[in-house]
Amino acid sequence: MAHSLEGRLALVVGGSGGIGAATARLLAEAGARVIVTHTARSAGAAASLADSLPGSGHMALPADVADTASLLALRDDVRARCGDALHVLVNAAGFTKPVPHADLDALDDALIDRMFAVNWRGQFAAVRAFAPMLKASGDGLIVSVSSIAGQTGVGSSIAYCAAKAGIDVMTKSLARALAPEVRVLAVAPGVVDTGFVPGRGADFNAKIAASTPLGRVGRAQDVAEAILACATSLQYSTGTTIVVDGGRSL
Ligand SMILES: NC(=O)c1ccc[n+]([C@@H]2O[C@H](COP(=O)([O-])OP(=O)(O)OC[C@H]3O[C@@H](n4cnc5c(N)ncnc54)[C@H](OP(=O)(O)O)[C@@H]3O)[C@@H](O)[C@H]2O)c1
Repeated sequence: MAHSLEGRLALVVGGSGGIGAATARLLAEAGARVIVTHTARSAGAAASLADSLPGSGHMALPADVADTASLLALRDDVRARCGDALHVLVNAAGFTKPVPHADLDALDDALIDRMFAVNWRGQFAAVRAFAPMLKASGDGLIVSVSSIAGQTGVGSSIAYCAAKAGIDVMTKSLARALAPEVRVLAVAPGVVDTGFVPGRGADFNAKIAASTPLGRVGRAQDVAEAILACATSLQYSTGTTIVVDGGRSL
């Protein structure tokens, strides 16, 4: 098979979520052995996902990206079970809480700190933990899920936009720092139909679809396809962010 990921190990941090689960499935369909992570909220769903993937050796393991010790425990567990080389790390964990941009007082310090701990520091901490294993593969790849919010400044809160802009710039820095053994990319979705933002429903999606050039909101599958392409087709790309937004940011 052209672009096969046979014999490769992929870790999808946040693999229990909408985009993470769709990505895990495509990576497994391409031949990779896939590990998905979950928090305490979704252990059962993550285990069912791992069991349902095509191929063998897939697993669901716990990790809280805001807790570096849990990422190091995950790294040790993955190494003990799968060996020293990791080929693909997908950073798909994230959280948000809508805060109107003009309501500066509502974006308090605790929420800002949590937003950056989960949406920026957690992605960096995962890279830091797994960089030696990615390098050991000789042909590693990191794909972080960013957002067009990081480019447009329009998004669920100002802190969320800033954290995602931070992912884009981290992607450039890490691409330089980890080359040539590891490529580093980000994928920036527009609005995607998952449970990510509390309160979004059919009415919201219809409104977004009407104001998006391609006439619909994104599906988790759209983003997963872009992440798969990073692993298969885009072999000469590193340090850039691929926008997958139906033209929403135009
Ligand atoms: N949906 C959109 O419109 C949209 C647009 C642009 C970018 N994104 C980005 O896409 C990524 C995935 O979002 P999604 O749409 O798939 O949302 P989702 O279905 O809510 O998935 C979020 C994932 O993040 C995990 N997670 C949350 N907090 C975590 C923590 N502290 N430690 C480890 N994992 C944690 C969740 O795990 P549990 O299930 O165990 O809680 C879940 O797997 C996020 O980075 C988000 O910013 C989404």
